[in-house]
Amino acid sequence: ADVKKIAVIAGDGIGPEVVAEAIKVMKKTEELFGLSFEFEHGLFGGIAIDEEGTPLPQATLDICQRADAVLLGAVGGPKWDNNSKELRPETGLLGIRKALGLFSNIRPANVFDCLKEASTLKPEVLEGTDLIVVRELTGGIYFGEKFRREGANGEEAVDTCVYNVAEVERIVRQAFEIAQKRSKRLASVDKANVLETSRLWREVVNRIAPEYPDVELEHVLVDNCAMQLLRRPSSFDVIVTENMFGDILSDEAAMLTGSIGMLSSASLGEGSFGLYEPVHGSAPDIAGQGISNPIATILSVALMYRLTFGYDEAAQAIEDAVKEVLDAGHRTGDIAVDKSKAIGTVAMGDLIVSALKKA
Ligand code: NAD
Ligand code: IPM
Ligand code: MN
Repeated sequence: ADVKKIAVIAGDGIGPEVVAEAIKVMKKTEELFGLSFEFEHGLFGGIAIDEEGTPLPQATLDICQRADAVLLGAVGGPKWDNNSKELRPETGLLGIRKALGLFSNIRPANVFDCLKEASTLKPEVLEGTDLIVVRELTGGIYFGEKFRREGANGEEAVDTCVYNVAEVERIVRQAFEIAQKRSKRLASVDKANVLETSRLWREVVNRIAPEYPDVELEHVLVDNCAMQLLRRPSSFDVIVTENMFGDILSDEAAMLTGSIGMLSSASLGEGSFGLYEPVHGSAPDIAGQGISNPIATILSVALMYRLTFGYDEAAQAIEDAVKEVLDAGHRTGDIAVDKSKAIGTVAMGDLIVSALKKA
């Protein structure tokens, strides 16, 4: 078979736990669908700071650059929270996204019917919710110049937010194209009533929109969007927004699905190469206990199969297996209504592997 190279950077906290389950799923799909993967592991995040003195060692970047796709767990933890910027796990995460040119972060939030009662929202509000946040990933306030200075009233901190036309254009085009393949509704989210970068964003969206006449476009201010996501989540289809707004809104959207432990993501550039990771972090509060939900990472593998490899049948099989296991009532603690019946990370992974089958 055509061997695909997968870079595995599991990271910190629950990262290694959830990645191990995702790899089990990939191995089972190798057998079932005749796929073939070669896994190469790299140090990344806090563990790389401890062992190599940097969150993103060159050797890890090399592994990613020669891979066809990257599977990432999560990084960060209290141990490194007071480090300087260069020695923070999160700086490695931003660095890898930038170095690999991954400007587009796709975060689907669709509600499994059987998980409606796991959400903190009323089931009737969630009915039919199936949206995608398309988050710009390599620009904005995350990547603008940052510094401290002495101001008139003592120490000040500065974060600058910059977007150029080309950066906005490429992410907005991707979002329009995604919307065209779905319900053809696009919400562009900004803060154009206050921010200059948002006014540029909106101008670019309006200029491009006529090229996609079949897509119904709405502009929504970010504060209103945060509210509407809870009020009428099912009315959204594709949401496109800048880096930090997308970070915040996607965690909010996660709660529509019942838990952040359910939300997968794909980070893409111009080609088919992609980095796949759960939306959640390293969850230091539950790390090492074997109770984290591996589904976000497992569903990220399904995204990898579809978006990088075109293995649609195997992707569908993963999604179907997850649904079957959830329909049968199996729950990790984060999505369990009766927490006393919750199962662990490995048990959930095993159940999904057993449920995998060729259609
Ligand atoms: P978090 O997403 O790690 O955790 C938030 C809450 O959700 C916690 O209560 C956690 O237990 C729970 N949770 C998260 N994933 C879960 C899962 N799979 N199963 C069950 N419960 C889960 O966010 P945080 O606590 O704000 O951040 C912790 C660390 O992770 C920080 O260092 C942060 O910088 C980092 N972080 C990394 C990434 C990443 O690597 N992509 C993303 C977000 C946060
Ligand atoms: C995410 C995370 C990261 C981000 C952090 C850890 C740098 O929250 O992937 O959503 O803000 O992009
Ligand atoms: Mn985030």
